Amino acid sequence: MDLTANGLELVPIHKRPELISQCCDMINEEWPRSETYRLKTLESSCDNLPTSLALVQENNLVVGHCKLTKLPRISEACYAEVVVIDNKLRGKGLGRILMLAVEDFCKTVLQLKGIFLSTKGQEGFYEKLGYERCPPVTIYGGFEAFNEPIKSKSSTASFVPSRTDLLEASTSSVCCNNCSRSSNLFNMPLAPPPPPPPMHPTQNKTATPTKTFMKKMF
Ligand SMILES: CC(C)(COP(=O)(O)OP(=O)(O)OC[C@H]1O[C@@H](n2cnc3c(N)ncnc32)[C@H](O)[C@@H]1OP(=O)(O)O)[C@@H](O)C(=O)NCCC(=O)NCCS
Repeated sequence: MDLTANGLELVPIHKRPELISQCCDMINEEWPRSETYRLKTLESSCDNLPTSLALVQENNLVVGHCKLTKLPRISEACYAEVVVIDNKLRGKGLGRILMLAVEDFCKTVLQLKGIFLSTKGQEGFYEKLGYERCPPVTIYGGFEAFNEPIKSKSSTASFVPSRTDLLEASTSSVCCNNCSRSSNLFNMPLAPPPPPPPMHPTQNKTATPTKTFMKKMF
């Protein structure tokens, strides 16, 4: 992607901190959050992810942004988020230019082999750029929000037995490593699982769109 031919540049924001404020305003116009929060996020940009990339015109005007973060379980790819083009300049091909430049940056600078992202409504845009739908991926280190239940028994302080754990334990005749008596806890009948939380009156199951996860491997 020859950005200079289009009078554009893709800039890691920490290399041009004077652009942070413009970037913050453009992002907040699309997804309003506190300025403090946005600035803190942008200021955390670094060479080794998270990296906030700004698409900048020759006149130093920020026209687009994309943030890349680490994927805790997929080291050869990253996660793209906060993809946005200045709302006055959309529909002119800048989104495509931004994403192609971001992919180039991932390949040549970060030495990565792919990008994952999630979207709610812009699937068509990403499909045009060669992204394909994929199963959800874990985004936040240590916390699994999407596809796999956490089952950590290493910390006894925070371990809360699941229904399966209790079922397993109730079939065992020993209650711990130090004694061989049966545990009253495990002989007790199991409580039924809690009911699901009530739905908002405007919601129903089919009308709640979820995020679509997409990926592109280079
Ligand atoms: C999504 C966004 C980045 C696209 O940027 P853009 O500059 O408007 O997109 P482009 O003009 O480069 O479009 C590239 C192609 O995708 C198509 N396209 C753009 N948005 C589309 C959509 N929502 N559905 C289907 N196709 C779309 C364009 O028609 C164009 O197709 P073409 O090459 O055949 O002409 C921009 O609309 C935006 O900032 N939206 C608000 C923030 C947002 O939703 N970000 C995504 C978060 S996941």
